[in-house]
Amino acid sequence: MKINQNYANVKKSYLFIEIAHRLREYVAAHPEADIIKMGIGDVTLPLAPAVVEAMHRAADEMGRIETFRGYVDDNGYDFLINAIKNYYAGFGVDLDYWEIFISDGAKSDLGNILDLFDADNTVLVTDPVYPVYVDTNVMAGRRVIFADATEENNFLPLPDPSVKADIIYLCSPNNPTGAAYTRAQLKQWVDYAKAQNAVILFDSAYEAFITDPDVPHSAYEVEGACDCVIEFCSLSKTAGFTGTRCGYTVVPKTLKAEGDLNGMWLRRQTTKFNGVAYVIQRAAEAVFTPEGQRQIKENIAYYQENAKLLMSGLDRCGIKYFGGKNSPYIWLKCPDGLGSWEFFDRLLSEANVVGTPGEGFGKNGRGYFRLTSFSTHEKTAEASERIYKMLRG
Ligand code: MLT
Repeated sequence: MKINQNYANVKKSYLFIEIAHRLREYVAAHPEADIIKMGIGDVTLPLAPAVVEAMHRAADEMGRIETFRGYVDDNGYDFLINAIKNYYAGFGVDLDYWEIFISDGAKSDLGNILDLFDADNTVLVTDPVYPVYVDTNVMAGRRVIFADATEENNFLPLPDPSVKADIIYLCSPNNPTGAAYTRAQLKQWVDYAKAQNAVILFDSAYEAFITDPDVPHSAYEVEGACDCVIEFCSLSKTAGFTGTRCGYTVVPKTLKAEGDLNGMWLRRQTTKFNGVAYVIQRAAEAVFTPEGQRQIKENIAYYQENAKLLMSGLDRCGIKYFGGKNSPYIWLKCPDGLGSWEFFDRLLSEANVVGTPGEGFGKNGRGYFRLTSFSTHEKTAEASERIYKMLRG
């Protein structure tokens, strides 16, 4: 028996597990500490009432012989696929029913999609980057190269035609920096991918937070994207599904590749995945109803208010920051020249606030730090106050 030696090349633990571990150690030593968590992007508001009602109804259906359901259909239930198809139509994007695949969230599909690609491909990611893109490829032994996202390019690197890449990951609005590509900028990536015969894996998990009309909600709003983009989205941040688990992946039939990627993904999913539970797919369907949309938008507005609170708190401290406008993430420059982990430790021990060290997202994250707006108003205001006292009090 031989093990996959590539696992020796990934960091011992996943970034958010490492943070949870450090927090546990701190709390064990300081049980009295009143900790405010702004590290992992996990939501705090409960599911919208329309979603909960749909779950109840679906649970009742599962308890009656006439309405009970067993295995899920192919790529998802038609009611949810059609709801997503209509949602995309709202962006002017016309998807085919068979291009939409229901998943248990973007993270798993972003890793699983790699089954479709040979190990001998060069993967291009931006740095800083959501660690899943890098780790899943390193686990499979692929070569990963980086495009620098820095203050100089507003954390939005554009393609360099002299760099050869086969698989390109883009996340916009970006995790961790909160920066978001405009349609015109994304078009440059689409043109580059087509010229390289590459595929773009586009993570749109934060699209519901977009406020800028120039920023597309879907990559398919950009001309030519259906030739080269696979899009991943999740209801985790959009509708508070972090613990409920539902998302969707779009694999266009028009993708230009050596083989039929849409057909391969259907084959892969029907072989290795048994679908998302009926009750959860009904809950997800409710997100796309007019009432569901109204309710989730209220929750998103609540988090956007938190982002404003955090930003004004950082202004008061004189700390430079990015993101926050089209994103639940605020990406700040660590004050007083502190390193990311140094600031993490100081913030934890002096203010009892947990954030995410930018360095955990890559070398360009050194000296930066990520805070989320997913807490409550009260805790966000309290955290801002504590940060101010710690630095300027
Ligand atoms: C994050 O905090 O970066 C995200 O919540 C992680 C995730 O969505 O898996």
